[in-house]
Amino acid sequence: MKKTRYGILGAAAAALIFAFASGPAMAQDEDFGGLPPGEGQELVFYSCQGCHSLAIVESSNFSRRVWDEILDWMVDSQGMAPLPDDMRATVMDYLVEHYGYED
Ligand code: HEC
Repeated sequence: MKKTRYGILGAAAAALIFAFASGPAMAQDEDFGGLPPGEGQELVFYSCQGCHSLAIVESSNFSRRVWDEILDWMVDSQGMAPLPDDMRATVMDYLVEHYGYED
C-alpha cells in the first residue's frame, strides 16, 4: 500500500515536477515508455499501453503478417478500439521496423 499513500495529488505533483525538471529536450526519451523515436512512436504509445505494459511490445519480434494478426486479435478479442486505416498503417510500419521484420 506504500505506493497509494500520496494518492492522486502526489502523482499529479510528481508529474508536474517531472515536467519541469525534464524539459522539452528529454521529453521524448522519457515520455514514450522506451519506444524508439520515429513516426508512429506516439501513436503506439497511446494505443498500446492502456491495457498492458509496453514491455510486451518491446520484447516482440514478429513478421508483418503476424503483427497484422496480433492487431486483429487485440481488436476482436481484447476489446481494443479499432484504429482508422491510416493510423493502423503507421502503427504497423513502426512495429515492423522496430519490433519485427518484413515477411
Ligand atoms: C483493450 C486492451 C488492449 C489494447 C489497447 C492493446 N492490447 Fe495488446 N494485449 C491485450 C491483452 C488482454 C493481451 C493478452 C494478455 C496479456 O498478456 O497481458 C495482449 C497481448 C499482447 C501481445 C502479446 C501477444 C502474444 O501472443 O505474445 C502483444 C504483442 C500485444 N498485446 C501488442 C499490442 C499492441 C502493439 C497494441 C497497440 C497497437 C496493443 N497490444 C494494444 C490487450 C490490449
